[in-house]
Amino acid sequence: MSNDLEFTAHLYGKGQFHHSIDSRQLPDGFVKYHKANFAQYFAIPEEKFRGCKVLETGCGPGKHAVVLALLGADVTAMDLSPDNIQKSEKIKEFYGLKNLKFIQHDLMHPLRLEGEFFDLISAHNWLQHAQSPSVVLGNLIPALKKGGKIYLSLYHGGTFRFFISQIARSVLKRDYYDLMRDLVKFHFPAGLKEFNNPDDIYMENIFDDFFVPFCHATTYEVVIKELKELGCVPIIADPKLKDIYGLDNIPLRMGFEKKKEANGQRKMYYTKAVDEFAVTQPDFLVQSVQWARKTVDYFNGLNNPELTSSFCLGLYRLRAMTSRTSDAEKKHQLLQAYLEMSCSGSNRAISSYYDTQKLYEAQKSNRIGKI
Ligand SMILES: C[S@@+](CC[C@H](N)C(=O)[O-])C[C@H]1O[C@@H](n2cnc3c(N)ncnc32)[C@H](O)[C@@H]1O
Repeated sequence: MSNDLEFTAHLYGKGQFHHSIDSRQLPDGFVKYHKANFAQYFAIPEEKFRGCKVLETGCGPGKHAVVLALLGADVTAMDLSPDNIQKSEKIKEFYGLKNLKFIQHDLMHPLRLEGEFFDLISAHNWLQHAQSPSVVLGNLIPALKKGGKIYLSLYHGGTFRFFISQIARSVLKRDYYDLMRDLVKFHFPAGLKEFNNPDDIYMENIFDDFFVPFCHATTYEVVIKELKELGCVPIIADPKLKDIYGLDNIPLRMGFEKKKEANGQRKMYYTKAVDEFAVTQPDFLVQSVQWARKTVDYFNGLNNPELTSSFCLGLYRLRAMTSRTSDAEKKHQLLQAYLEMSCSGSNRAISSYYDTQKLYEAQKSNRIGKI
């Protein structure tokens, strides 16, 4: 696929949701959870959304836009992917919503809203995938009324999820995407349900974390500085997080209020991902970084798509297996053992369950059918 933008649109349009079953009826639990979530981060009671002009951005297949419309808001939703806009139109039709419209737009470019301003802007779990979240925020905030609010849900860097993702992203090439999709069924023949953590461990997440061209996991500090430059202040204080490297994943969620228009010249802070390897303590994390660098060099030198993809799926298995615990030292010991084994040159070591390379070759030569 030619460029990053096209690949992102494909990944989130057709590609990524290849495994998921499309159901237009949103589960009641999803609707309830997100109504409460919007109310919390915009700091507005659910009944006060009625009539608010809301811009829902990076809307994917339109689920959060529907939740906002069900709250009674007048919603404009945007996404880069034409496939997602098509899916969104279907879900809108299913719900018979009149207070919802979808527009295909690359939010790296300024909005064309012809003087339309919003009370609320929502960006749920997508901004980290923009080439520059800072540029997108610079495009969004001018569309917010003074006193209006923006809600951001982002990926927080520094957790185990993004440590293993950085390893995988340093060895995977975009061309391995189809191969990886073929290999998934060997590594996880029963899917990912066995890990009993469906919110964090699921099929699309592998491709999202490992392949999407931009994955800018960040910190509260960076986001607050960025929004301050744009004339916005936090609605509630950020949680003071410490020693999070043992956690599998934590979302970064915040609401901001626009107090004034930004100055012409602003500093940009949220332009790249946290470097997960730039750590100086504790010792076990520093050791993991050393093993990670060695393993990255090993796989890049090998230039073997099957082994590299299998290795990355093994990394995901390790994350999935430990996702319910937060014992940082134990996780990193396991990771180091896995990295050491993987660098030993043994195909067998790549997956604790299957010799995936042999299975893959056998399947290619039609020697086996279904696993
Ligand atoms: C991980 S999905 C999240 C979708 C939805 N917000 C959700 O939480 O289910 C990321 C979405 O961001 C969209 N996206 C990525 N870059 C974009 C851009 N530059 N402009 C608009 N949308 C973009 C993708 O097309 C995709 O639908």
